[in-house]
Amino acid sequence: MLDNKKEYGDYQTPLDFASTVVKYIKNNYDFTPDFIIEPSCGIGNFFEASKKYYKSEMFGIEINKNYSDTAKKNNPKAIIYNESIFSYKWDKDMEKFGKTLILGNPPWVSNTELGKFGSKNLPQKTNLKKYKGLEALSGMSNFDISESIILNLLNKFSKRKFILAMLCKKSVAINIFKELYRTSYKSRNIKIINFDSKKIFNISVPACLLIIDCSSDTKVQNEVNIYNFNNSYVDTIGYADNKFFLNTNYSSDLDGKCEFEWRQGIKHDCSKICELELNKKNYMNGLKEKVEIEEDLVYPLIKSSHIKNFKENVFKKYVLVTQKKMKEDTLWIKEKYPKTWNYLEKHKDNFMKRKSSIYKKMPQYSMFGIGDYSYMKYKVAISGFYKDPIFKVIFSEKPVMVDDTCYFLAFENKKDAEIVCDILNSTETIRFLKSISDMTAKRPFTKKVLSRIEFKKFNYEILNYTEKEILDFKIRNGLYINKLF
Ligand SMILES: C[S@@+](CC[C@H](N)C(=O)[O-])C[C@H]1O[C@@H](n2cnc3c(N)ncnc32)[C@H](O)[C@@H]1O
Repeated sequence: MLDNKKEYGDYQTPLDFASTVVKYIKNNYDFTPDFIIEPSCGIGNFFEASKKYYKSEMFGIEINKNYSDTAKKNNPKAIIYNESIFSYKWDKDMEKFGKTLILGNPPWVSNTELGKFGSKNLPQKTNLKKYKGLEALSGMSNFDISESIILNLLNKFSKRKFILAMLCKKSVAINIFKELYRTSYKSRNIKIINFDSKKIFNISVPACLLIIDCSSDTKVQNEVNIYNFNNSYVDTIGYADNKFFLNTNYSSDLDGKCEFEWRQGIKHDCSKICELELNKKNYMNGLKEKVEIEEDLVYPLIKSSHIKNFKENVFKKYVLVTQKKMKEDTLWIKEKYPKTWNYLEKHKDNFMKRKSSIYKKMPQYSMFGIGDYSYMKYKVAISGFYKDPIFKVIFSEKPVMVDDTCYFLAFENKKDAEIVCDILNSTETIRFLKSISDMTAKRPFTKKVLSRIEFKKFNYEILNYTEKEILDFKIRNGLYINKLF
């Protein structure tokens, strides 16, 4: 006799866990779906959970008539088909789906287990990954049917804006990621969120919520970050130099002492007065006043949120910088830049109100995070807040200041900045950084973390520079090791 529950991989998601999943999506993705699709919707607990967070239309498919009737009864407005996902023809409904959240929990059963039951609950195309020859024969084409359901959905929706969030075995999630990498499938981000399947479904298998965000700006993903539901970082898996890695116990050769000094950006605690915006060639301050001061002490300013999309000479903000180095007396401004001095004096109270004790006993209008390095032409900067580290070379005609949420290395030579930036953005460095950062922290990438990158230890052969360029870079920056001595 067939065990129906097993044959149909039937583990209905408890309503409170379905709510946890939907809430997670709602809280972490700025995405308002027109449609929620549940490809094997069971009694419809995901629909029920979604009502609290989204006003989207609902669409489900379910093979079990009792379940689809229950789902329909509880969600009269939902379109629910009672049929197999494997025979359902998507094309007839594809037109109506706009921005879609594909949500759910596909059946937990593999094609091999189904074989034992003599079951036909299978996709028509079993060699979905198009394995050839020996691979196809030697069992590589064994798969969980949830894997084929998810991959089919990803193919169907590949040209649309959607987020897919599905509960599945962790092995299924990893296989899907590998397949997406292999086929250069583009998404914005792929995440795995661990959960305890014993507690939720009474099944002892590593399980997760797999989230594939294809809502915008898609590109081939070579990494997947693994988290818990509270967003605490667990691990990273992915491809480095085309080789798959599981990051557990990862240790890097890069670990050491950085030869360059990482700097934190400028700190003034007086943004209303010091930070300016350009409005038709006029500087405006945070009090909406027109600011007429000499140009010399005004510099372009980059904040954390600007780094990722930095474009040369396009700036939203500017900053008035009162010192060339820390503790420097600011009285010199009076002589040389009288308009600037008058502006500072006019807003003296705002500076006096600065709460932090660091400003006490300092010259008036003092700032922190200022030195020769602030005035160097090229900066390789990162936001301390980013969960995925991205480094950018920041520059303009005038030195660009970065705010104190960012860290940077400063260079006078453009090539040095470019090489350093490529090293920092390399898979090896990013993996290393992620393996030593506290991803649960508000600022995962601190000066302490960044200062562990030892540039001498980097494998320069993987960079796209000539030997001469690398040699010159190393010599200029004291990284050249002459093996003869
Ligand atoms: C793991 S349960 C999840 C149910 C529901 N999505 C939830 O999360 O509560 C899998 C569901 O898939 C249904 N199912 C199994 N094979 C199916 C198929 N070929 N087409 C559509 N639904 C199927 C089962 O009846 C079951 O309701």
